[in-house]
Amino acid sequence: MNATKILGTGSHVPNNVVDNKTFENMVDTSDEWIQTRTGIKSRHISVDENTSDLAYEAALKALDAADTNPSEIDLIIVATVTGDYFFPGVAQLMQRRLKCRNVPAFDINAACSGFVYAMEIADKMMKNDGYRKALIIGAETLSKFTDFEDRNTCVLFADAAGAMVLGKSDHPGVEKVILHSEGDLEGLLRMESYPLKKDFQTIENKRPFIKMNGRDVFRFATTALPSVIRELLESTETNIEDLDLIIAHQANKRIIDKAAKSLEFPSENMYLNIDRFGNTSAASVPLAIDEAIQKGRLKKGMRFACAAFGAGLTWGGAIIQY
Ligand code: UT7
Repeated sequence: MNATKILGTGSHVPNNVVDNKTFENMVDTSDEWIQTRTGIKSRHISVDENTSDLAYEAALKALDAADTNPSEIDLIIVATVTGDYFFPGVAQLMQRRLKCRNVPAFDINAACSGFVYAMEIADKMMKNDGYRKALIIGAETLSKFTDFEDRNTCVLFADAAGAMVLGKSDHPGVEKVILHSEGDLEGLLRMESYPLKKDFQTIENKRPFIKMNGRDVFRFATTALPSVIRELLESTETNIEDLDLIIAHQANKRIIDKAAKSLEFPSENMYLNIDRFGNTSAASVPLAIDEAIQKGRLKKGMRFACAAFGAGLTWGGAIIQY
């Protein structure tokens, strides 16, 4: 028994739905531009729920779906770039609220690729160190760091959480995870932090925001996404026809369409929910996996690939049998 598999998934989004028209009153944009250039029609933006609140609701649903009591969890990993605090991590907030045992709990930052990174860490810790059940979560409130005066970014990003319980199994579920990072491209997409103080006692109130060279990230993603899927297929000796579904990071419908074309994979089997959720960074992949399961698009026994890319620039993917 040295494999890991998905025992259950869950997701949660804030109630507040914001349509494209709302942005027409805020910046120089249009519903038509946003829909045709990104595929986004609306997104959920938090009013009073922080990242840990979204993560908690998603985790409860995943635990329920996995028929798992929080006391059975022996590893908690949260992928986020928008934790409630710089420290403690959202993972510790989950541990307290779910009343989990004294088990390792930590946050990781690999931006939009974070959930795939978390999956690799959990899978390897379970295979090598005897952890039996892991709760992994991708959760973000990107709206906290979005500059709603910047049309290049404010129409794209949104808030959500997706959770997964992974368990030890006799049969392979998580077959292979591949991760990459290219630090030379770090300047293309950044969430600013607080600036260094000019002198140690001066407090500056500059708010940190997301800054992105969208065009270059787009170009990068259209190559990275199909390339990591090809690597996964090769390393697992899988033909692309053997995949029932590809669940890609929902950053732009045009990126996903181009990946399908490059891979010669049927576009109807590329899962899409960007129209209703926008780009939710580390929450994007687990939110889409959970929705695919809820909608019956991903059924027990099916094989699927997931893939993500984001700031760093990081990218990666996995082949999983559900
Ligand atoms: O999840 C992390 C990774 N992030 C991404 O994957 C984002 C990847 N990039 C993209 O999805 C696309 O590049 C964007 C959606 C961000 C932009 O679409 P694009 O087709 O690449 O547009 P562009 O950056 O080439 O800009 C074309 C024009 C520019 O105007 P000018 O310079 O041609 O006059 C932009 O200023 O579109 C303008 N523009 C907008 N116009 C209306 C940029 N944002 C907007 C907007 N509304 N919201």
